[in-house]
Amino acid sequence: MTQIITTISEMRAQVHAWRNAGECVGLVPTMGYLHEGHKSLIERSVADNDRTVVSVFVNPTQFGPNEDLESYPRDLDRDVALVTHAGADVVFHPEPEEMYFPDRSTTVHVEGLGNELCGKSRPIHFDGVCLVVSKLLNITTPDRAYFGQKDAQQLLIVRRMVRDLSIGTDIVGCPIVREPDGLAKSSRNTYLSPAERAAAVVLSRSLACGRAVVESGERSAEAVRAAIRAELATEPLAEPEYVEVVDTNTVSPVDVIAGEVLVAIAVRIGTTRLIDNFFFDPAA
Ligand code: PAJ
Repeated sequence: MTQIITTISEMRAQVHAWRNAGECVGLVPTMGYLHEGHKSLIERSVADNDRTVVSVFVNPTQFGPNEDLESYPRDLDRDVALVTHAGADVVFHPEPEEMYFPDRSTTVHVEGLGNELCGKSRPIHFDGVCLVVSKLLNITTPDRAYFGQKDAQQLLIVRRMVRDLSIGTDIVGCPIVREPDGLAKSSRNTYLSPAERAAAVVLSRSLACGRAVVESGERSAEAVRAAIRAELATEPLAEPEYVEVVDTNTVSPVDVIAGEVLVAIAVRIGTTRLIDNFFFDPAA
């Protein structure tokens, strides 16, 4: 049975004991309400490491004032069952008061990479992610930490933070896990009504159109964006927030696809905001 740890000191003591026994450690940071996407990260960590910690923490610092912090879905019992089944050793589940001092005064800001895409509508989001991820890495000092490509901008920013701060953890990016119809698995999919759920498949469908264009040899970012937008326009319930082609080093929009790019979209289906993406490297 997976052990639940709620305090930083106990978490450190457990990692210390593992290290003394010569064991290596993997971390999978999550906000809980776990699904097959999270499970794929946990299984990868269990395969790669002697011990795996799954953090389940709905991190308040990455939610804006009008976002879904309060309503974010939570079900710890179900999460612990999934983590146990996937073979991880510990669920680290601290209360917000355990993680944050009321007078905390340190921020972790990765300059530039958070300005575009989700950073435009969520201005404090990535600072909150960097703060909590750096704390989780400091608490568990893992050999490897696992992040999904589902949140591609987050993955690029965490990689840059870990490089720039000389944090000794390998950041492992893992592929997007999808529903049979193509919708990327997300804890927020539970917000969708049946009609919205049916409409949400337009995200992956539109990206497939964009991918077909770029794979045919087209190198104009606008042509790729236009193909995606045209497909999104076929779904009346879909309101695109952004359709972008960005350089993977800078996360800035490109006009011409000359190096590796991230093609990323955010779309509102009703009140639910969904994201999806793919990477493309013309040299690969
Ligand atoms: P959360 O949304 O719970 O996601 C936890 C991890 O699971 C992230 O690395 C995310 O990219 C990955 N993930 C989610 N859906 C996925 C899917 N369909 N396929 C593959 N991986 C998927 O991302 C966060 O939490 C938070 O920002 C966090 C990093 C935990 C910091 O609070």
